[in-house]
Order: sequence, then C-alpha cells, then structure tokens
Amino acid sequence: MLLNLREAPPSPARLDQMVPMADPRLVVHPEVDHVFVEQYRRLGAALHQAQLRDGIRSLMVASAVEGEGKTLCATNLALTLSRSFRKRVLLVDGDLRKPSIHRLLSLHNAIGLRDVLQSSGQPLPAHSLPPMLSVITAGQDEPDPVALFASDALRQFLFDTRDQFDWVLVDTPPVMLFPDAGLLAARLDACVFVVNAGTTKSSVAAKAVAAIGASRIVGVTLNRAELSEVTPGYGYGQYASAGRKNAGGTTVRWRSSER
Ligand SMILES: Nc1ncnc2c1ncn2[C@@H]1O[C@H](COP(=O)(O)OP(=O)(O)O)[C@@H](O)[C@H]1O
Ligand SMILES: [Mg+2]
Repeated sequence: MLLNLREAPPSPARLDQMVPMADPRLVVHPEVDHVFVEQYRRLGAALHQAQLRDGIRSLMVASAVEGEGKTLCATNLALTLSRSFRKRVLLVDGDLRKPSIHRLLSLHNAIGLRDVLQSSGQPLPAHSLPPMLSVITAGQDEPDPVALFASDALRQFLFDTRDQFDWVLVDTPPVMLFPDAGLLAARLDACVFVVNAGTTKSSVAAKAVAAIGASRIVGVTLNRAELSEVTPGYGYGQYASAGRKNAGGTTVRWRSSER
C-alpha cells in the first residue's frame, strides 16, 4: 500500500533552516563535538552492515530507565542515517507517555503516532525534514498506550511504512517502567539498547535486556562514556556515543535548557 504522507501542521523551521539554530545536542549543530558525530557514524555503519546482512529495517531505541539518552540517541541516529548515509528515514516518537522528540527538533506535536494508531488508514502526519528525514511525533499525551501498541494498527503502520523508508526508528519509554517497549519489540526487527555509562546498574540493564529479548539487540550504546572507554576491543555492534568529553578531555558544554 502506498502511503499518502500528509504534511503535518507547519513547523517552526525546516531542518536545513534550523541547522544554525539547532539544539546543540544534535549532530547537525555547527559546533557539535566531532567525536560525538563520528560515534553516531560508527553506529550508522554497523547498522548499515546489519541491514545488508539481515535485512533489518525497523529499529527501536530502548533503555532500562528514564534519562539514559534514548531520545537523544534515536534522534541523532535518524539524522545521521538520513544525512551521512543518505537513507530515507522515518523517526517515530513511540514514547506516548512522555513525548520529547518534538521538543528536540522544534516540531509541533498536535497530532502524531497516537492518532495514527487510533484511526488507522489515515494519511500519516509526518513532518518532512529534507533531504531524507520524516518525523512522526507522539501526538497528545496518552496515559494508557498499551492497547494501542497491542493493536493491529501498529502492525499495519509498520507494514505500510516498510516500503517507504530504508529505516524506521522508534523512540520508546523505559523498559522497566512500562510494557510499551516490550510490545514494540515484538513488532520491530531489532533494538539498539542505551546504557548510561555512569548510572545504569548492570543488574537493571540485564533485566531490561531480558524483557526485550537479548537476540533482538543489535547494538549497545554506552552513553556519556569517557573516551578512554571507547576502545577497539569492543565487540561488533558496541560503540560509545561519548558526548561529554572531546579528544582533548575538554568538557563539551551542552545547553541544558529543554525546550
Ligand atoms: N551524551 C550526552 N551528552 C549530553 N547530554 C546528554 C547525552 N545523552 C543524553 N543527554 C541529555 O540527558 C537528558 C536525558 O536524555 P534523553 O535522551 O531524554 O533520555 P531518555 O530518552 O532515555 O529519557 C536530556 O536532556 C539529554 O539531552
Ligand atoms: Mg526519552
């Protein structure tokens, strides 16, 4: 089925226009740390190889608890795959409980995934961020998305988007707090699992990995890692999206204000 991609309500700015004023945590920001950008390119390359080898096209970004960097990782990965790898990417905010991709990308969030799943068959409310990125925000807060994620509408949505995009990336709520990520995992091809180098307890991460299914995890991102932790000794699929220190050990300053 060919999707009719409906343009979502006009956004404050198109990505290329917003690059000079992009959120400094994004890989498109002119002054972003180049090590940070390269780590996302390494992840993109690993995923590209996994796609060639296993045919994966839909991916969720998950982690055990809140604040470990899922949303930032999903958004930067989508930007990297669309801009550096020239792939058609659909980024979906699957955190219907606490949506935040729209803030990071300065997009309106009046309608989104919630609406798609509530009334399937409607044109997709996708924001187009040229050249190759489309974004479906979460839509209005949904206190109980379990029924939506368990519905056939999710399967249909993912089936319909499969031919339109090289990658469908879905941001998710914390695995340990809600069943949503587990339900999404059953429908998506693979998972990138985010670990906060400083705070994630290994026992908690292990429980979250078990809830998703270890075999579904194609990569683990060690977020906020020190550069010394990024060594060639890491196995395939593992990498660090180190953003806190640059090669000289200088702290990269992030604007902490959430929009
Ligand atoms: N590598 C990083 N460097 C700097 N700030 C980061 C990094 N990873 C995450 N953050 C910030 O930490 C906060 C939590 O990240 P977020 O992606 O929203 O986590 P989650 O989606 O897992 O709840 C956000 O303000 C985010 O921008
Ligand atoms: Mg998040």
